[in-house]
Amino acid sequence: MESDSQDKSLNNRKVPLEMSPEEFRKVGHQLVDRIAEMFTSFPQRPVTSGESSKIIRQALGNNKLPKTGTSTDRIFEEATNLLFDHSLFNGHPRFWGYITSSASPIGVLGDLLASAVNPNVGASALSPMATEIEAQTIRWISELIGYPETGGGLLVSGGNMANLVGFLAGRTAKVNWNIREEGMNAANQKLRVYVSKATHTWIEKAADLFGLGTKAICWIETDINEQMDIEALKQQILSDQADGYLPIMVVGAAGTVSTGAIDPLPEIASICRQHDLWFHVDGAYGAPAAALPEASAQLRGLSEADSVALDPHKWLYSPLEAGCVLVKNPQTLLDTFSFHPEYYSFDGSKEDPSLNYYEFGFQNSRGFRALKVWLGLRQAGRDGYIKMIRDDIALSKALYHLVEAQPEIEALTQNLSITTFRYVPVDLSNDDSEAGKYINDLNQEILNKLQAGGELYISNAIIDDKYALRACIVNFRTTLSDIQALPEIVIRTGRSLDAEMRPNHLSN
Ligand SMILES: Cc1ncc(COP(=O)(O)O)c(C=O)c1O
Repeated sequence: MESDSQDKSLNNRKVPLEMSPEEFRKVGHQLVDRIAEMFTSFPQRPVTSGESSKIIRQALGNNKLPKTGTSTDRIFEEATNLLFDHSLFNGHPRFWGYITSSASPIGVLGDLLASAVNPNVGASALSPMATEIEAQTIRWISELIGYPETGGGLLVSGGNMANLVGFLAGRTAKVNWNIREEGMNAANQKLRVYVSKATHTWIEKAADLFGLGTKAICWIETDINEQMDIEALKQQILSDQADGYLPIMVVGAAGTVSTGAIDPLPEIASICRQHDLWFHVDGAYGAPAAALPEASAQLRGLSEADSVALDPHKWLYSPLEAGCVLVKNPQTLLDTFSFHPEYYSFDGSKEDPSLNYYEFGFQNSRGFRALKVWLGLRQAGRDGYIKMIRDDIALSKALYHLVEAQPEIEALTQNLSITTFRYVPVDLSNDDSEAGKYINDLNQEILNKLQAGGELYISNAIIDDKYALRACIVNFRTTLSDIQALPEIVIRTGRSLDAEMRPNHLSN
């Protein structure tokens, strides 16, 4: 009897997570409507609610894990309200912080489609079309930035991971023993990697995680434009070789995180050829700008790299997360990552060999990140991307000229789509060290106030010991009038904070 009723209930399962087609349509349409409203409401909203974590936690509530479920329409009503009322919107026209782009609406829909089909893009047997779309995306990105299409690569979660993949491929390729079997213990020479002082912190994670240790990083000086000093690089390699170290890799920047500076990539390529070093380019931010016909020869030099990191979730405007690593020779990724466990039968046949992305990177099970990128590339095309990136650069230059024209703002740098500047009260001299320290503190407070205020969102950089405000425009919603609003907001905030802070900070 009991087993009869169990059979019945297992044949007729009541599944708490299933949705009827009618329910799915109803809730889905409501959700899409609310998202569309959110996109149109950006200009009327603050960039961020600016609330403290305490307020955010109160809004969320501190309920225990629910024992039973809740209806889907109620959950979505609550979830959209929570997120729309208490978020920072990097899709807002006045978001220019860090390097996070506005997300393309087609990418938003792409993520929905990707998770609906839910292919596991670790093996082509599990994701036949998705694997081919990812391979095409890699070819299209390569074509866009002038990287050899005969290479390979894969989508990863972001810039850190893309750089880690390139770094590890370089380490495997350039050490003089079988590192995959023997590990770092077999090293009889200490390894060295060369990066400019402006390199993003991923390099420290890479050197640490992959057993070189952070002391293996040679931080090469930069010149006043934040570009790697090539003479210093050459000297350092020679002196390390003479001292018995094993140089394996140089990392060039195609857009540094703070100021968007581009290293002299063709010269680095030639040094790498001369010393048989792996040439990795961190183009997480700036590589897409190589698509512009007017791109500099320095930036175009990324075509010579053995590996390139590029973030579609930065300047290809894909929703988070989407990073990408390109390699000149796909075999180098297989040599780094491929194992063949007995429980996988994904190899395909001799006539039809399989492209299995689990062999090319860290992940085995992989989501379909490529779809949102591929859809964006199809919607905008090469010309569309060139236009959006060119406009972002033009807006950044316009911002530089606007702040330069203000007696109370000191314009500092402008590269790619990053402009740095700082507020300096007219009566304060920069040269005086007490005033210099105060101006730094003042700008830090200006940044805190602006970031919480919601009128616009920028971040910071340190330039020649100066605390700078920094706007990075990777935002297709930003217009010239958004940019024109910035000087007044910075000056108003600067004046009011200066009036508050100066009596306690500076002796007269
Ligand atoms: C030059 C550069 N490299 C790497 C990264 C890390 O990228 P992600 O935050 O996507 O891991 C960034 C992030 O801003 C970057 O600007």
